[in-house]
Amino acid sequence: MTTPVLEVRDLNRKYVSSGGLFRPAKVVHAVKSVNFTLQKGKTLAVVGESGCGKSTLARMITLIDQQSSGEILIDGDKVDASHGVSKVMRQKVQIVFQNPYGSLNPRQKIGEVLAEPLLLNTDLSADQRRQKAMDMLIKVGLGPEHFNRYPHMFSGGQRQRIAIARALMLNPSFLVLDEPVSALDLSVQAQILNLLKDLQDEFGLTYVFISHDLSVVRYIADEVMVMYFGEVVEYGTRDAVFNNPQHSYTQTLFAATPRADVPSIKARLAKKAALA
Ligand SMILES: Nc1ncnc2c1ncn2[C@@H]1O[C@H](COP(=O)(O)OP(=O)(O)O)[C@@H](O)[C@H]1O
Ligand SMILES: [Mg+2]
Repeated sequence: MTTPVLEVRDLNRKYVSSGGLFRPAKVVHAVKSVNFTLQKGKTLAVVGESGCGKSTLARMITLIDQQSSGEILIDGDKVDASHGVSKVMRQKVQIVFQNPYGSLNPRQKIGEVLAEPLLLNTDLSADQRRQKAMDMLIKVGLGPEHFNRYPHMFSGGQRQRIAIARALMLNPSFLVLDEPVSALDLSVQAQILNLLKDLQDEFGLTYVFISHDLSVVRYIADEVMVMYFGEVVEYGTRDAVFNNPQHSYTQTLFAATPRADVPSIKARLAKKAALA
């Protein structure tokens, strides 16, 4: 079997609040003994309600936050943060957040936003950086005319395209998307989901896709992991989890009605079916 892009073994994260004069110190076990493997070109969806530990998991696997215990292997190499994470390792993991505006510098033109990772991490010339940024802008469905615009001049969906483009500039091993469409209108959600699918088909990208919306998950995922109070209560292929949920929490979660069944998603599926 090929080496997984990402492997997580018995991963835990505890937060200790220091307490106060009248409050005892409290320990929150945000992520409990999580295990999974993810192969290249696949999408693992992480589902669960607010506070179940999804973003904590996201921060650990993107090396923003350190685990309390357990192991993370990226492309088969164990991440050993005790010696500092290498620049090469950091480049392999990228994250897109729900609100990209917060991570975009308002004074930086979009072309610069996209070229910056190349400036910091490669020896490419200014011309080469510019060309690569322009190519990526077009790949995510924006145009050359957007190159010199500032973040405030874009819509929410366009900003999410920019965040995705920037995350892909250094060819990461995998991309974590933490509720990437949750703040968008349904029709825009569908456009971004379709973009992610198209990029995955074209470049064999690997995603960890975090969401609380099951209709989105059903569309995007190959594998599904359901979290409940920090624990994985369900983990399997999309069809196995959706058709035959084992845990009572998953059954309750699935009883809610789907939302994002929008025309552009249907259109893409129909197009794919016609090509097959
Ligand atoms: N930096 C932190 N310090 C203390 N507790 C935290 C911190 N981040 C998250 N938590 C707690 O960990 C749990 C999981 O949070 P989070 O990973 O953000 O969940 P989700 O993304 O699924 O909504 C919650 O109880 C949250 O309050
Ligand atoms: Mg979260």
